[in-house]
Amino acid sequence: MNIAAPKGTKDILPDEMSRWHAVENLFASVCERYGYKEMRTPTFEQTELFARGVGGSTDIVRKEMYTFEDKAGRSMTLRPEGTAGIARAYIENGMASLPSPVKLYYDMSFFRYEKMQKGRYREFWQLGCEIIGSPSAYADAEVIAILDTFFTELGLAERQLELGSIGCPECRPDFLHALRAHFEPNLDKMCPDCNERFKINPLRILDCKVESCQPFIANAPSQLDYLCADCEEHFDKAKRALEALDISYNINRSMVRGLDYYTRTVFEYVSTHVGTQGSICGGGRYDGLVEILGGKATPAVGFAMGIERLLLEVEAQGIELPAAAPVDLFIISFPDTAVSAMALAQKLIRSGLSVQTDVMERSMKAQMKQADRSKAEYLVVYGAEELAAKQFVIKRLSDGAEETVSADDLTDYLLKARK
Ligand code: HAM
Repeated sequence: MNIAAPKGTKDILPDEMSRWHAVENLFASVCERYGYKEMRTPTFEQTELFARGVGGSTDIVRKEMYTFEDKAGRSMTLRPEGTAGIARAYIENGMASLPSPVKLYYDMSFFRYEKMQKGRYREFWQLGCEIIGSPSAYADAEVIAILDTFFTELGLAERQLELGSIGCPECRPDFLHALRAHFEPNLDKMCPDCNERFKINPLRILDCKVESCQPFIANAPSQLDYLCADCEEHFDKAKRALEALDISYNINRSMVRGLDYYTRTVFEYVSTHVGTQGSICGGGRYDGLVEILGGKATPAVGFAMGIERLLLEVEAQGIELPAAAPVDLFIISFPDTAVSAMALAQKLIRSGLSVQTDVMERSMKAQMKQADRSKAEYLVVYGAEELAAKQFVIKRLSDGAEETVSADDLTDYLLKARK
């Protein structure tokens, strides 16, 4: 029996890679222009990092983690998200001593044991940003500004920013109290998971997707009505900054994020194209996380965007991404010139050109077909005559136009033809 890729994972085939590179390169370029630096963290971490960081009441920690024991009996988990690992690395590498704020971005894959659906995988990729060390609402506005610039430059015209605030440890208890009072009379009509969530963290009930729970969730109280004065002011400041940056948003009174570390601002970019979840990107402030993980209390805010979902959205909005770099030249050779043709290709490639030649020792006819398939701009037939005369007839494949070019001039000829 053939072995298939694990359920929920996907091969990213060569034909798709240019689309991936287009969004990854654009994201890196935008982040760098805002002064953010890339970093990477390990693919697996100690399980406790996510149990503490993401939160024991979340679906991610309760149901979705790929956890295993290593050979020394330690519990390890494939990273289900990036923020906890970044916060751990920030503490462990003494990044608190760097000038504040520390601005980071990443392009990594993550693992969640979820039900496979359109836009929902068990291994998926995220482009993310974290700004660590600023309590200001302007940092919240800056990470959203990064997204807005990225979407604008990508050409993603249809986009909707949902904005909310989920308060802080000061005002959260009042909200939790109101939630408990709201759900308690109806618990017998709600799913067993929600009954469990009611005990551990009633906020997580708002995450529930079970149909019969929705009526009770729909008219649940909103955190926005329970914000303390400081959170209210912070939220207003973030909104004013977004308005000044000309970034429109929709206030979402019932925004839920599936991770426990959030405080104050939370946001998502949503779409109807990317499957049931609808979220292309999610983020928010997490002022308590660094401290929860053993560092000094350090405010932070960030976001992550799923690359697969982003590409679904790009396709749905009919955006053309740059295709793979074209092949400049295909060299057809014969048994007595094959090695010389390879040496010529080597020289041209080292000048920055993209050149292909035959390494199957095929017939001329077969090489012609291969040249056609390569979609090369130009073709050269490299026979004994060309080898002796050190000049080639170079043929432009789009219209068949031919010119004779000396071996010495070939590099310049092809480089000029690119412009
Ligand atoms: P999240 O909302 O769990 O947040 O994930 C962010 C994005 O990752 C989602 O909006 C979605 O595009 C993508 N995503 C999540 N799960 C899947 C999946 N199973 N398949 C495909 N795509 C998926 C976080 O992960 C936070 N760490 C974001 C953050 C950074 N908050 C602050 N800083």
